Amino acid sequence: MKIAVIGMGYVGLVSAVVWTNLGHTVIGVENNSEKLQRLLAGEAPFFEPGLHSALAEAMQSGRLTFVETLVADSTLELVFICVGTPIGVDGLLNDQYLLESARMVGMLGDANLQVVIKSTVLPKMSDKVLEEVRLGCEERGLVFKGGVYFSPEFLSEGSALRDTLAPSRVVLGGEGLDQENLVVKFFKSVTPEAVPIVITDIRSAELSKLAANAMLASRISFINELALVADKVGGDINLVAKIIGLDPRIGPNFLKAGVGFGGGCFPKDTNSLINYAKTIGIKTGLLEAVVEVNQQAVIGFYNRVVSAFGDPVGKRLGILGLAYKEGTDDLRSAPALEIIERWRNAGGMVVAFDPLVVKIQAEKLGITSLDDATAVLSQADLLMVLTAEPEFINLDWERVSALYHGEIIGDGRRLYLAKVVNKAGFKLIT
Ligand code: UGA
Repeated sequence: MKIAVIGMGYVGLVSAVVWTNLGHTVIGVENNSEKLQRLLAGEAPFFEPGLHSALAEAMQSGRLTFVETLVADSTLELVFICVGTPIGVDGLLNDQYLLESARMVGMLGDANLQVVIKSTVLPKMSDKVLEEVRLGCEERGLVFKGGVYFSPEFLSEGSALRDTLAPSRVVLGGEGLDQENLVVKFFKSVTPEAVPIVITDIRSAELSKLAANAMLASRISFINELALVADKVGGDINLVAKIIGLDPRIGPNFLKAGVGFGGGCFPKDTNSLINYAKTIGIKTGLLEAVVEVNQQAVIGFYNRVVSAFGDPVGKRLGILGLAYKEGTDDLRSAPALEIIERWRNAGGMVVAFDPLVVKIQAEKLGITSLDDATAVLSQADLLMVLTAEPEFINLDWERVSALYHGEIIGDGRRLYLAKVVNKAGFKLIT
């Protein structure tokens, strides 16, 4: 099929590349000229495992092209909208890019076009998209006869290609989604047979995306709250998580305690859901607590480590792991940023290393980024490990003892055993 994907972020670019490599012809639309230039040069604008080679393969096939704006094309069958919906000043998701994309589709697309929204939306935003597409068509004297559907995206950064090739489920929300519908046919063509395709009404589909992220965020805050109890009574929260995770009703995932959730999705989606619920007269007290516990996860960790260390003035904090989690170079809502700001405000200096965050990216944020963990270890007065990168999990403690002159290891991801760290001559704070 010939499809267009608007917005070349994590969702749009990865989907465009995967679908091209599965045999479809894809037009990737990106209006940020710097990003577009990089894409045209065959370069992904962000790091994602496997993306570099998958993008090269897709471009070589001749079936993937990148353009700044959609052009009228009667052979185009499907359009996916994957633009960002950042949180606005009102605390709700901003639909500006979404509606601009919808208008562009309405102004240029065929009147029978099928439009699938993949951007995260608040309930009823899909209806506004339909309205914009209709209006765009109307301005050209056409009556829009196609459809607008919502298909939530559940991929995670760091495993985006794998998640796109083999998702846990595909959800399609909208009307008229029978087996003959083009959108259903398309998703069947790109989805392994064992993966359930759930066809539902658009409102449930919209909410399912927010609900999935809110649920996962709740599990993280739950375990972070319990971690405080475990620490007080001398239990090991990693073991508690393992034990409860063995119950099939609970399961083992998203029960890793640490500095809390960050990134471009959980903080934005939980907060906007809370604020949206308020606008319809519903108080989401549980989610409010999830957000509060999450803020405390990073602040509490910082305070525990710093009160064991002493005054930051003139001291150098060494950070291993800048991104919001391992396996990505994404710094959005990264716990490291909160920690760096607090340390600096208290008069300290910071050096850091992250194997995936490129130096210029870190330096744009005023962070002195070093070449490797060794450099951080040898310069730091205090060390904090903030992501679970394999090389941080497997630190060579003999080397750490030889290089690091500080006394404390702040373990923001609960990666280490106290007895191992103590044996190496350090005090472990989690
Ligand atoms: C998340 C969801 O997992 C995806 O399903 C969803 O599609 C995506 O948001 C989105 O809405 O776009 P992502 O933000 O890429 O994906 O990363 P996660 O692996 O979910 O981690 C989110 C945050 O939670 C990270 O800061 C991570 O360190 C933290 N986390 C995760 C924990 O602190 N403990 C855990 O046990 C798991």
